[in-house]
Amino acid sequence: MKKIVFATNNAHKIEEVRAKLSSKFTILSLRDINCNDDIPETANTFIGNAEQKAIWVLDKYGHDCFADDSGIEIEALDNRPGVFSARYAGEDCSFDDNNKKVLQELEGKANRNAKFSTTICLKLKGETYFFVGEIDGKIITNYAGSKGFGYDPIFVPNGYDRSFAQMTLEEKNKISHRAIAVEKMWAFLEKLN
Ligand code: IMP
Repeated sequence: MKKIVFATNNAHKIEEVRAKLSSKFTILSLRDINCNDDIPETANTFIGNAEQKAIWVLDKYGHDCFADDSGIEIEALDNRPGVFSARYAGEDCSFDDNNKKVLQELEGKANRNAKFSTTICLKLKGETYFFVGEIDGKIITNYAGSKGFGYDPIFVPNGYDRSFAQMTLEEKNKISHRAIAVEKMWAFLEKLN
């Protein structure tokens, strides 16, 4: 079976992608290729960061690979935090710090529109491909739910009345930005000879 590296050590992401594993590829994590590097993410777009991580693995380790970058964009905050989603409230901040900051900044604002977005960069046989997944929703005024991670407790997808943090992993994985991007990449890989 062909091997492809997913440039992450996030067990949750690896599990999600392996769940969609076709008969074509075995997914390896960074740990599986003995990469313990703190891979830089210094671009100011999801595309730039995803490609930066994929290039690092390809150049240093010589493996075909894919990498993802995600975040939340909030309309009333001029699409912040975007690529800074992980460390919006400061360098060593917690998910809770980030959520509090967002709720504070949106206090009194009528526009609660937000969008989760994932970009995957795939480096395969010398070619580069991108796959994007997005989901629109609203930032609610108080935390709801305790599952998931990151901004899940304050984000309700459009068409739903529960936050991501009130959904099971299985439910979230059917509709999430990451699932959509992974699905697109998988459909592409399935078509390859
Ligand atoms: P990453 O690029 O996928 O590691 O995501 C960067 C940051 O975006 C995370 O640390 C979270 O704060 C946020 N984020 C990305 N995806 C999600 C999600 O599915 N739910 C909640 N927060 C997310």
